[in-house]
Amino acid sequence: MLELEHTTKTHDEARQGEALELLPTGKSTGRKLYIESYGCQMNFSDSEIVASILLDKGFETTKDYKEADVVFINTCSIRENAEQRVRNRLKEFESAKTKNPGMVVGVLGCMAERLKSKFLEEEKLVDVVVGPDAYRDLPNLIEKVDDGAKAVNVLLSREETYADINPVRLNSNGISAFISIMRGCDNMCSFCVVPFTRGRERSRDVHSIVKEAEDLFAAGYKEVTLLGQNVDSYKFTEPVAEGETAKPAVNFAQLLAKVAEVSPELRVRFSTSHPKDITDEVLYTMARYENICKYIHLPVQSGNTRVLDLMNRTYDREWYMERVDAIRRIMPDCGISTDVITGFCTETEEEHAETLSMMDYVQYDFAYMFAYSERPGTLAAKRYEDDIPEEVKKRRLTEVVNKQQSHSLYRLQNYVGKVHKVLIEGFSKRSDQDYCGRNDQNTMMVFPVDARFKPGQYVHVSAERCTSATLMGHIVD
Ligand code: SAH
Ligand code: SF4
Ligand code: F3S
Repeated sequence: MLELEHTTKTHDEARQGEALELLPTGKSTGRKLYIESYGCQMNFSDSEIVASILLDKGFETTKDYKEADVVFINTCSIRENAEQRVRNRLKEFESAKTKNPGMVVGVLGCMAERLKSKFLEEEKLVDVVVGPDAYRDLPNLIEKVDDGAKAVNVLLSREETYADINPVRLNSNGISAFISIMRGCDNMCSFCVVPFTRGRERSRDVHSIVKEAEDLFAAGYKEVTLLGQNVDSYKFTEPVAEGETAKPAVNFAQLLAKVAEVSPELRVRFSTSHPKDITDEVLYTMARYENICKYIHLPVQSGNTRVLDLMNRTYDREWYMERVDAIRRIMPDCGISTDVITGFCTETEEEHAETLSMMDYVQYDFAYMFAYSERPGTLAAKRYEDDIPEEVKKRRLTEVVNKQQSHSLYRLQNYVGKVHKVLIEGFSKRSDQDYCGRNDQNTMMVFPVDARFKPGQYVHVSAERCTSATLMGHIVD
């Protein structure tokens, strides 16, 4: 659940790994920025936009918060423990701030948006609170703090997509990168805080997305992951001058094709797909391009129709199964992963059993699994009682986790004995005698280094053995 290396992962609460030390792109001020990110991949991507804005203003980045002039923490509100983790981390910053009172401490992202200026009262060491649509204002806000004030900007926007800002790649392997294609969410799932912290859904200009993919490919990148809370509702309409006829909107399937056409050597992934919106057109587009990876993250949340209805997911059990059938029909070799919530308000044992039976039906390759955590302000918090005892939520979660463990093992065992095309990402975590990289279905493979091949190259790897998370094999090219 917390694997940082799971590249299409968008929903964990992990801490940013080693950020690179980068030099200013604008006139140097000698000031140092430290930025740490939590939450989904969107947040990690936003931190790259923040860094780009401040590098342009003469900042450089540092890996050590103790020597930083500005310390930012980009936060997540998705579950209560995500917020708790941030508060604990802020406590750790306190002694650094005592030693260096000039240090600016800023809270960015979803928690900043949720708590707004209340944050300044709750956490005394915080100087700046900035929501996800206000990052262009950061240089001004830092100036205000330098002048001795506290600063807050949590305005949400209907237009901001940061399309013109070139993100700096903060902790990149130089091979795989994320491209944000939309922001916000209009779905209002009843358990979810995202529509409140990220605002209305908006799609980024298609040309800026394709250009970012082209620039990454030209810089040696071999894999891009297109990011959005609900990529299937991507829709970009070209602005037209008065008197001109309107052009048809670009949908997600068409965007995918355009990015895939940047080069057959550039792998394309995406996340997250919403079961209510994923179309056959998207599935056929995936099937048509060899370089669009055959892997779909399709969060189910619950396998029971009544619970799905309370969750306001706007699909039912049968609809979800039909979408899975369509995926299997159009791409028999496609990997599927999911998100599951256990113990949502009023969920009965029978309804929980339907989540387990859905898992048996799909046999997911991978899953992120959570006990329901009530979030203030959401529809569920307003309408329903959080009535499932914590120990029942946890027991149901354990059942779901155990089932997934056996399915992951089963799926990987099916990959054993087959040859997989793998993009080498680097040395394996355990040993520099081994390379690691993913197959099309996003499964991590580990295989002995072969001097003929370097990270960033594609190789064919024969899978010989597996655990429930990794395939082991050797290069057969
Ligand atoms: N946009 C994605 C999900 C974003 S949040 C989608 O629609 O699928 C990532 C995951 O966190 C969700 O899929 C859900 O499983 C989980 N989650 C969200 N709110 C939660 C809550 N209040 N309690 C527990 N899990 C939650
Ligand atoms: Fe949250 Fe639902 Fe939007 Fe996903 S689709 S971000 S779960 S409201
Ligand atoms: Fe992402 Fe967490 Fe916000 S999952 S959108 S950082 S609440």
